[in-house]
Amino acid sequence: MARILVYDLPTRLFHWLLALGFVLALVIGQFADEHGVLFPYHMIIGLVLGMMLILRIVWGFVGTRYARFGSFLFGPGAVIGYFKGILIGGGRRYVGHNPGSSYAIFAVLAITLLIVASGLLMSGGGEVFEEVHSVASYVLLALVAVHLVGIIVHMIRHRENIAASMVTGTKAGEPGNAIGSAKPITAIVFILVTAFWAGGLIRNYNSGTQQTTLPLLGVAVQLGESEHGEEGHGRRNQHDDD
Ligand code: HEM
Ligand code: HEM
Repeated sequence: MARILVYDLPTRLFHWLLALGFVLALVIGQFADEHGVLFPYHMIIGLVLGMMLILRIVWGFVGTRYARFGSFLFGPGAVIGYFKGILIGGGRRYVGHNPGSSYAIFAVLAITLLIVASGLLMSGGGEVFEEVHSVASYVLLALVAVHLVGIIVHMIRHRENIAASMVTGTKAGEPGNAIGSAKPITAIVFILVTAFWAGGLIRNYNSGTQQTTLPLLGVAVQLGESEHGEEGHGRRNQHDDD
């Protein structure tokens, strides 16, 4: 079978930037001092992931064939069939996302949004959101582990290097099933919007007030504890001399 183009460039860029951003946010969130110089980057990376997610959701409706959510909305029958194929062999092949990964993908997108939203709400000072934020982060970590195990199992069982498909965008398939273009212009727009958003968040960050302003929207957001932050070990803004 020929190698055909399946995943467009915006989808692949989103994937690897999401993976990188998730790892960075998780490591800083877990290991960096909440009042240290690195921590604002935790929140800025999270807000950048939030913007990328919004763009990916739009692309899920208007993007190329296998990037569209409708192309990997599978019913329970297809999922059972997929796992049967993994266990006992056989099973049909899928050109785009397979039924095994489809639910994990929707869950990853939804939970990442929940983490970003709870992170924002917690910065306004809410214990509940703090709890949601940390539990959702570990749930996402567990999902990523399932995602990676799923990919390894698929690669062994079907002898198909799908990890490479997220890099090259190609898979073995019938030429008639290929997408027409990798959408390089959209990919450039995606990079520019994301870079503009990230640059604006960093530029607008004020270490004195621990606030930044969302580019274009002009909305100020509190990063880290606000005035009414935790008592006891809560630190006051005016002591911030980062
Ligand atoms: C995908 C993006 C993100 C991930 C994976 C993530 C993950 C985490 C993790 C693992 C922790 C440590 C939790 C704990 O120790 O219990 C944490 C803490 C925190 N995160 Fe995030 N986060 C993300 C995005 C954000 C965003 C967008 C904001 C705010 C705008 C934010 C604000 C915070 C704050 C203020 C804390 C400290 C909370 C505390 O007192 O424990 N995070 N995050
Ligand atoms: C080395 C690490 C990783 C590899 C090799 C990898 C590989 C892949 C592959 C091959 C697919 C397509 C699966 C299919 O055929 O259905 C995929 C999709 C996806 N992966 Fe990963 N992945 C990695 C890390 C991550 C991480 C850390 C995250 C999330 C934080 C993630 C989130 C996703 C999402 C959301 C999709 C769907 C992409 C889309 O259509 O937008 N991946 N990944």
